[in-house]
Amino acid sequence: MTTSETAPTERSDDPPLPPGPTSYPGVGNTIGFLRDPFAFYDGLREYGDVVSYSVAGEDFCTLLHPEHVERVLVTEESKFGKSEFIREAGEKFIGNGLFASEGEFWRRQRTMMQPAFYRERIGTYAEPMVAFAAETADSWDDGEAIRLQQVMKRLTLRILATALFDHDVRGADSSIHDAARGIARAINEKSDAGSVDSLLPDWVPTATNRRYRRAITRFDEAVERLIDERRDEPPGDDFLSILLHATDDRGEGMSDEALRDELATFLFAGHETTALALTYCLYLLSNHPRVRRKLNDELDSVLDGDAPTMADLRALDYTDKIVTEALRRYPPAYVVFRETKQDVILGGYTIPEGTSLTLPQFVIQNDDRWFDDPETFDPDRWTPEMKADLPDYAYFPFGGGPRHCIGMRFANAEIRLVLATIAQRVEFDTTTDELDLRMGTTLEPTNPIEMTVKTR
Ligand code: HEM
Repeated sequence: MTTSETAPTERSDDPPLPPGPTSYPGVGNTIGFLRDPFAFYDGLREYGDVVSYSVAGEDFCTLLHPEHVERVLVTEESKFGKSEFIREAGEKFIGNGLFASEGEFWRRQRTMMQPAFYRERIGTYAEPMVAFAAETADSWDDGEAIRLQQVMKRLTLRILATALFDHDVRGADSSIHDAARGIARAINEKSDAGSVDSLLPDWVPTATNRRYRRAITRFDEAVERLIDERRDEPPGDDFLSILLHATDDRGEGMSDEALRDELATFLFAGHETTALALTYCLYLLSNHPRVRRKLNDELDSVLDGDAPTMADLRALDYTDKIVTEALRRYPPAYVVFRETKQDVILGGYTIPEGTSLTLPQFVIQNDDRWFDDPETFDPDRWTPEMKADLPDYAYFPFGGGPRHCIGMRFANAEIRLVLATIAQRVEFDTTTDELDLRMGTTLEPTNPIEMTVKTR
């Protein structure tokens, strides 16, 4: 078999194309990527900070320097669009929702939805965040074994559904809840980076694709019923109500189709990510007794047994550092994807128009050029001096620029309030010594993390 090294290639006066690993005729780097995506990403570092390769017939370029991340997401963002292959992968479910849409439509939708994420509005969700977390922790017996990620997913979906639809999903009609869980499972199964299914189009009749399509149909039916019920109701405080009554600068509201796509997008983007952040925080705490003791001291002295509120978050400085550090070590959204809309010169290389860019948080945030001893979980590293010295975009768990996570404030409040509420009540022992992770739509544990509850 002949091979071709994608070494820098001269093209007239332009800077060369980026270097990259050996690419095989017909398959490019697909086999190496599928075999072990983590080892593949790790191997990219030896080619520098701008690295090209090809997977499943798609030309990719990975950027590993914070300066490049800033240029793509912020300072030169108009040269980059959402990646076409990600849009296609999510098209059936998230449609033209905020995550995937572009241009004027995206701007209009983002402006209409922004009020749902104002600080005051997030404050109204704090109470259910804390109440549901307390209920979950109080339901555990001392010595009980739980599967952490599964429990956190149920909790964050319940919180999100309350914020989105003012609908406690344990209530009488749980169809939207079941549909959302079904779709989350189907999407994860379909998007495992180590599986061939992740590279096949939706129409290929595999068992995974059939499950995915069925889950979408169930979700669409549940959302349609919900929108029908709510169209004629007076405005409420939840996100759906805000969207149902929002108008753009020409006084026009959202179509049912746009509403459906936004609800799918928010359910998709907003519950597994926060569930994973909480899973990693609680897992890391169970393995780091010194950090856990410091957290207990802070919770006892700041809260003195009371439930945490939004107003307490400012004083919960160590809790904040734990969350910040967990999101650094294990970022649930582990790669930001973009596509070049024109030829772009970055780091001394030409990246041709139409190239898919990956900006991997999980590599950059664990790079020893920006973080000392990056594999160590050390919340104390986040001193004011360290933050002042850290290059912008060496840490970007919520992305950056105009397309940064619209749910960031919601997620930041939720993770801290839920963590404080659970940690006030229980500690955990774990038998899982090392995390085995997989790259799906999110960075998630391959196997369930078993925890044993110890009431405090
Ligand atoms: C720990 C939790 C979360 C993490 C790590 C996270 C991460 C991210 C990242 C990295 C992006 C940027 C993607 C890109 O630029 O291509 C993003 C966008 C987005 N996130 Fe989040 N997210 C979280 C929670 C949430 C929540 C709670 C919601 C909703 C309630 C949400 C809704 C969205 C939406 C709608 C977008 C697309 C925004 C746009 O393009 O205008 N996220 N998120």
